[in-house]
Amino acid sequence: MAIYTPKNILITGAAGFIASHVANRLVRTYPEYKIVVLDKLDYCSNLKNLNPSRSSPNFKFVKGDIASADLVNYLLITESIDTIMHFAAQTHVDNSFGNSFEFTKNNIYGTHVLLEACKVTGQVRRFIHVSTDEVYGETDEDAVVGNHEASQLLPTNPYSATKAGAEMLVMAYGRSYGLPVITTRGNNVYGPNQFPEKLIPKFILLAMQGKDLPIHGDGSNVRSYLYCEDVAEAFEVILHKGEVGHVYNVGTKRERRVIDVAKDVAELFSMDTEKCIQFVENRPFNDQRYFLDDQKLKNLGWSERTKWEDGLKKTMDWYLSNPDWWGDVSGALLPHPRMLMMPGGMDRPADGSDKTQSGSHLSNGHTHQAQMVAPVAESGTTKPPYKSID
Ligand SMILES: NC(=O)c1ccc[n+]([C@@H]2O[C@H](COP(=O)([O-])OP(=O)(O)OC[C@H]3O[C@@H](n4cnc5c(N)ncnc54)[C@H](O)[C@@H]3O)[C@@H](O)[C@H]2O)c1
Repeated sequence: MAIYTPKNILITGAAGFIASHVANRLVRTYPEYKIVVLDKLDYCSNLKNLNPSRSSPNFKFVKGDIASADLVNYLLITESIDTIMHFAAQTHVDNSFGNSFEFTKNNIYGTHVLLEACKVTGQVRRFIHVSTDEVYGETDEDAVVGNHEASQLLPTNPYSATKAGAEMLVMAYGRSYGLPVITTRGNNVYGPNQFPEKLIPKFILLAMQGKDLPIHGDGSNVRSYLYCEDVAEAFEVILHKGEVGHVYNVGTKRERRVIDVAKDVAELFSMDTEKCIQFVENRPFNDQRYFLDDQKLKNLGWSERTKWEDGLKKTMDWYLSNPDWWGDVSGALLPHPRMLMMPGGMDRPADGSDKTQSGSHLSNGHTHQAQMVAPVAESGTTKPPYKSID
């Protein structure tokens, strides 16, 4: 198995959840790699997610949009990028039932811009595209064999449709231009740094406030959850050992019904599970199950390390220790939040503080001494607000 060694890695979306763990891990473990993070600091991001890396000499943060061809081309050339790990996306299925054009713009067009920049600059030796298990669509409840990497893509909601669309472009740039692409399709991830619109942090924050835990439908939907550090390790393995042109599922065989997740959280907070679970209207379409065949990645030497009980406890402890990480997220804690992204204002600063963040770029940075490294779009200096339309 050939080992790939990157030099200068561009990680998109690393002020968000999963990529922050990946970036922090690579910065910490490989001081010889330069890690450049590009993130537009959307409502679900937080610069604090990158705190472990910010004083490292091999780390640089750039605030900007992957859909800006000028910025992306500039970064690839000036930072001599040879590797891209592309996580940036609109990620919340509930939002995609509202303003789904944002999903097409960020997830499909944004990916297209990155791919075209790779084609134009001709220097990228790995493009790792981060997709999701949701592109396969739902798995039958009684299926015993999971989706494998050659299974058909049958997305069922606007979010997963845009992720599948992005994958098609990635595949086409691999075939047409020989771009060395690798695609991943992951199960759900949980752990510290996750914006509380997603199920587990939402339940934890609501439980911290002594509130009911809302469940879409009857809670029988099944999901598979991987702990964030295990997933960061999976990306480390794929970066070094993944084969160009291949797709890797990042999955677990351990599944939990949504109602059981709610009960587990309630029990951790010593809440009465009979009383604190509130059944609410289901999503327009709610996939029953995503079941992956995870053997291919295991063959590269990766395996899941964190047991559900341990991961959930660690996650709860982190949210209890960091109650103000996200500032006011009451809109995200509604049963059906819809974040409307509107230019020209912000409700919550990107670093979770009470101050508006004005520096556009930080490199190996001290928070108050932001070092400018690249231009940024005018509208990028403030964070779009979110508000609930429910
Ligand atoms: N969270 C999961 O359970 C899960 C599971 C499987 C796959 N994924 C995929 O992993 C990736 C990361 O997911 P996450 O949950 O960490 O996401 P997230 O929502 O926590 O973070 C996304 C980040 O991308 C940034 N971003 C969005 N659009 C951008 C743009 N146009 N330009 C620059 N930055 C932009 C946001 O500011 C944010 O920091 C996504 O591609 C998602 O589809 C997530």
